[in-house]
Amino acid sequence: MFFRLMYHVVLPLYVGFILLSTISLGKDLNHVLLIIAGVTFIGSILIEPKFPRYLALFSTLQVTLLVFLHWFSQLNWCYSLYIILLSKLLFQHTLKVMKATFLGFVVITLYTMIRLSYTPSHLSSFFAIASDFLTSLAVVLIIQYIVEMEQQKNRLKEEKLRDEMRFENEKMKLLGELAAGLAHEIRNPLAIIQGFLQHSKTRSFNIEPWYELIYGEVERMNSLTVEFLQFAKPNPSAFDLIQVHHCLEKVRLLTETKSIHLGHRMIYTEFNENLFCRMDLDKMLQVLVNMINNALEAMDNKGTVTVKLSKDTQDAVIEIQDTGRGIHDKDLQDIFHPFFTTKTNGTGLGLSICQKIVQDHGGTIQVKSKLQQGTTFTIRLPLGDVA
Ligand SMILES: Nc1ncnc2c1ncn2[C@@H]1O[C@H](COP(=O)(O)OP(=O)(O)O)[C@@H](O)[C@H]1O
Ligand SMILES: [Mg+2]
Repeated sequence: MFFRLMYHVVLPLYVGFILLSTISLGKDLNHVLLIIAGVTFIGSILIEPKFPRYLALFSTLQVTLLVFLHWFSQLNWCYSLYIILLSKLLFQHTLKVMKATFLGFVVITLYTMIRLSYTPSHLSSFFAIASDFLTSLAVVLIIQYIVEMEQQKNRLKEEKLRDEMRFENEKMKLLGELAAGLAHEIRNPLAIIQGFLQHSKTRSFNIEPWYELIYGEVERMNSLTVEFLQFAKPNPSAFDLIQVHHCLEKVRLLTETKSIHLGHRMIYTEFNENLFCRMDLDKMLQVLVNMINNALEAMDNKGTVTVKLSKDTQDAVIEIQDTGRGIHDKDLQDIFHPFFTTKTNGTGLGLSICQKIVQDHGGTIQVKSKLQQGTTFTIRLPLGDVA
């Protein structure tokens, strides 16, 4: 927008001004050649965007035409045109500082040579030339600064875009794996239900006694799809700085009823109220509720789930400890895999989703377990600055 205004409006206006002032002052060497140089110069600027492949050719042509325009007009005011054209060249051809300064030097030397051809050389013109050179040097440096800032901004933008793409790719890969597994998991209950329906249709078989079983299978497919749908990647821009204590208070409310219903006890200890993490609150609630539900489900007799919040150097540490049946050593490496479950009505999606969400928050989950004594899951989340 600014560039178009500068090169397609201000520049042609300035050329028009030079033409008019030269003619009205009667200083020019040749009217016709002056106008031809001016008009071709404007023309080349205006049509250049249509031929992006010939940028270098247009740049050379424009410098040459400007030199002619200056030569025929014999006006020092042309200096501004040199500066505008120089800025255009610097923006179009991203150059290193040395090359840019050299280009500035060449353009201003051309200007000086023409200028010297029509001005008598004495001390004041020498000073004027020195001043022009210094001005052009300042212009070159300012433009280089802007160009470099622009490049840096673009690089950062590109990096961010690349990160987002990688993020998206990983998500799609995992979603793909999950979807394949999901299809596999749903096929079995579907085949069972289909069998019953076929039986009942072709042989008038009474499936009423099997209603519970069929219902159970439908329920299972339902929980599979519900958990699968919850697997949406947390959006980093939706992360807020949240007091971990506040998050755990919510978890307490969400899990209280189930714990009372199963006759278990829940204890929340060592709540440090000064810990803040960047998180997607809904997703983190999903993680903690999921893990507490696992803990509650792992205790056959009346048991206790202890939730502890503490700080360890740069992390907030949340421990969820139960007094349940524990996990076999051979199962420990599988519990985070999608569809691994030891429960009859389990989906095996809970922990894999929890792990993904915690990883997306830059955190980790660890597990320690002893058979018949209990399990402890430890979630570490990087602390956010409370600035
Ligand atoms: N606190 C726990 N105590 C004992 N076993 C657990 C605990 N949490 C998870 N597990 C084991 O990990 C498996 C996978 O858990 P999860 O992914 O949440 O799926 P689901 O709960 O549907 O089985 C469970 O089936 C169980 O065997
Ligand atoms: Mg679970």
